Amino acid sequence: MKPDVNPSSHASAPFDPQQLSRALLDWYGQAGRDLPWRQTRDPYRIWLSEIMLQQTTVAAVIGYYQRFLENFPTVEHLAAAPQEAVIDLWAGLGYYARARNLHAAAQRVVEDFAGSFPAEIDELMSLPGVGRSTAGAISSLAFERRAPILDGNVRRILCRLFAWQDAPRSSRAEKQLWLWADLLTPGQQVHDYTQAIMDLGATVCTPRSPDCESCPLSSFCQARRQGIEQELPLKPKRKKVPVRTEAALLICRDGSYFVRRRQASGLLGGLWEFPTISVPEGKPPEQQAAQLLRDQGVSGRLKSLGKIEHLYSHFRLELHLFHANLAEPQLVNEESGDWCPADELENLALHGAHKKGLTLLGG
Ligand code: ADE
Repeated sequence: MKPDVNPSSHASAPFDPQQLSRALLDWYGQAGRDLPWRQTRDPYRIWLSEIMLQQTTVAAVIGYYQRFLENFPTVEHLAAAPQEAVIDLWAGLGYYARARNLHAAAQRVVEDFAGSFPAEIDELMSLPGVGRSTAGAISSLAFERRAPILDGNVRRILCRLFAWQDAPRSSRAEKQLWLWADLLTPGQQVHDYTQAIMDLGATVCTPRSPDCESCPLSSFCQARRQGIEQELPLKPKRKKVPVRTEAALLICRDGSYFVRRRQASGLLGGLWEFPTISVPEGKPPEQQAAQLLRDQGVSGRLKSLGKIEHLYSHFRLELHLFHANLAEPQLVNEESGDWCPADELENLALHGAHKKGLTLLGG
């Protein structure tokens, strides 16, 4: 039987929001993590960390955050850098649109805001790569403005706190969750509150096996009361997406592989890739790969390495990989390409599907 929760479209809570934020702040005082971007109120540093932390764990981000600040200590340094330098420094962090947006946003801050990040939500949201939640994070963390956030962690916490038993990503959910996020955000200590709720999601109210015993909010939690905290938020239904098939050539000469940089704009712009060709339906991938090898102006023996699959937001890529060993020191017909030693491929800003393809090379 469905419990009788029927969340209304206005924000109210079956508990006192101030008591909840007090409990959360007390917990944060004792259990909050000491992370490099928490020592600062500099909007540039906070913005940089928030962009890096989108869809990425703290552990993966720390080294990148420090390296970026060494290379680009101010927003002016970042804005003045070539886009390629930014992408190459981002290599390995994934979701490379973030790197391109980072660079474009730095240029906007310098040109349109005289190098000072704005504090207002709508102005922050005018920057490439800054959505409503990231804008709320920057505004609350750097400027102590009362601004709610709704990232993945907070979404999960709210779905549990209020026992939200509908799809978590519908427009109705979106509206309701933002109202709740706003209701719970306190008027004071909002920097700490924002950090605290992120920490709670990352360390206690985790997707699987939430640690309700240590949770400062368990007495407020409606899902816990009903014993359904493990089931929420509901899993979004997987959309059916079209399949694209491509063949990629790993052309090897003297232990190095031929790679080229994708155009700066468009899908996966600025990333490195192996030469690639689309495989129309019904055509054998080997045939397309052989054609591509000829297009590169070389001949060599092709060996199939196998296939990998990679899911993008709007299509699934089926990528067939072929190894081509060049016996002769032939030239590859490619202006934007370069030779990369095999052991450096891992560190290259290769696009995700091709990086996955490296596993087929073995060793
Ligand atoms: N995830 C997103 N922003 C974060 C932050 N400031 N600290 C820890 N995790 C985060």
